[in-house]
Amino acid sequence: MFGLNNKDKNNTKAWKKLQSEYKRFKKVEMRKLFAEDKNRAQKYTLHLNDLIFDYSKNRFDEKVLESLLNLAAERQLPQKIKEMFEGEKINNTEHRSVLHIALRNRSDRKIFSGGKDVMPQINETLAKMKKFSDAVRFGEFKGYTGKKLVNIVNIGIGGSDLGPFMVCEALKRYWAKDINCYFISNIDGTACAEVLNKLDPETTLFIVASKTFTTVETLTNAKTCRKWLVNALGEHAVDKHFVALSTNKEEVTKFGINPENMFEFWDFVGGRYSLWSAIGLIVAIAVGFENFEKLLEGAYAVDEHFRNSELKDNIPVIMALMGIWYNNFFNAHRYTVIPYDQYLQYLPSYLQQLDMESNGKSVDKQNQFVNYATGPAVFGGAGTNVQHSFFQLLHQGTEMVPVDFIVPAISHNEIGNHHQILLSNVLAQGEALMRGKTVAEAAEELRQAGKSKEEVEFLKKYKSFSGNRPSNTFLLKKIDAFSLGMLIALYEHKVFVQGVIWNINSFDQMGVELGKQLAVKILPELEGTAYGEHDSSTSALIKAIKLMRK
Ligand code: F6P
Repeated sequence: MFGLNNKDKNNTKAWKKLQSEYKRFKKVEMRKLFAEDKNRAQKYTLHLNDLIFDYSKNRFDEKVLESLLNLAAERQLPQKIKEMFEGEKINNTEHRSVLHIALRNRSDRKIFSGGKDVMPQINETLAKMKKFSDAVRFGEFKGYTGKKLVNIVNIGIGGSDLGPFMVCEALKRYWAKDINCYFISNIDGTACAEVLNKLDPETTLFIVASKTFTTVETLTNAKTCRKWLVNALGEHAVDKHFVALSTNKEEVTKFGINPENMFEFWDFVGGRYSLWSAIGLIVAIAVGFENFEKLLEGAYAVDEHFRNSELKDNIPVIMALMGIWYNNFFNAHRYTVIPYDQYLQYLPSYLQQLDMESNGKSVDKQNQFVNYATGPAVFGGAGTNVQHSFFQLLHQGTEMVPVDFIVPAISHNEIGNHHQILLSNVLAQGEALMRGKTVAEAAEELRQAGKSKEEVEFLKKYKSFSGNRPSNTFLLKKIDAFSLGMLIALYEHKVFVQGVIWNINSFDQMGVELGKQLAVKILPELEGTAYGEHDSSTSALIKAIKLMRK
């Protein structure tokens, strides 16, 4: 298999076909497609358990879809999916299997990495997590002074924070009544201070979450929290108030956490794919292990769907192909995710890491710089809030930004008619983006509103909407652990499919290293113990900071 860069025409046949499809199709209006085909929505909606994925409001017809599916086939997607599920070392720069799917394998199917079945160790850790989370929830594992641990603090960053944080927030309705969860991620001392100020050391459990256990932010925050605890309760209290989630037993021990209080995971689990592993411990404590298992079950349902469905019926594949269509042919290099659910407000930040750290790459799997766009930028926020912030640009900006709407039919908080209003808004936004309003329609509306001829002429363009702006809609029955698990796994596999099509390794993150290296160099310069050569801007800023802090 060669990269898309390869000149071999046969290897890029589908890509070329899509270029000509784009020329044929770029001006076609979705309005027209809907008018011409009353069954369009039905045709382009997929179902999985209670989840409905409506992708009909995208700019494609049958021929475009066929060409996109041909591209997936040409990129040997079914074979690549098989390779991931069979534990091949598809993370080619780090020579690792990619087996987050094994963490939620609810069957007794064996999954191998390097010839070894990984399921026994995964199940062992799950059993340990169940035992510990139950013990904390039911007050059997107590603090040093015998009090129940009711404040659970996760110290971690990136994948060791965003996943568990997002899931805890999304499932807040399921939290044990007497338990509170806190998250410390940023190195900014404020993050630590603001959390510690609220807490009583006797009732606080710290979970230090770090795959590598070398991440400076996490270790610095963990040290500060350890000191805070030891100052209050003494060194002997640490075993009752600190646990670690990591792949690195040696560093955990060095840090001063009892290895018996360590929950293990493995290098075949990427940081941003780790919420299903021991990294989910805070989730299990907050919502109970049964709910944590439901989360895994939701993801497993998607894994089975992804592994077994034909490409044309495969939700993550369609999500990915629509993204490729816009990113590589319409040159729309951004997309936005809008959950119309307050509990899902942190999903976009989680997806930023998932997508941008996975597919923000410029070298292909054959070690060549790519000459096509790869990962898009992702942003988002909860609806309807964001309708009052960035939706102006989505509707009338000069660039097209594809949207994913996510909404539950039933709210956990059915107060008055709040949820009906919210539902009417999400549906209205999708329709508005698709239909738009022509200049003539805007003029007519202004006339109907009694505006003068001059006002109509002046305002009609401002009041028009180009429309033809694409969106997917994910309709769920309710946000619970199972449906959330499904949703997250859909995006994980979408990102994987796009990585396959772009022929990049979605599972390393070397782009985060350079900044880390330079920070290590700059730190002693700020502290005045070293001098370094920099560009004039960086040097001047170092000087100015030192002056201000004097
Ligand atoms: O800096 C990026 C990164 O390596 C992420 O990929 C990862 O999720 C995060 O840092 C935290 O890493 P760790 O879990 O090893 O502390």
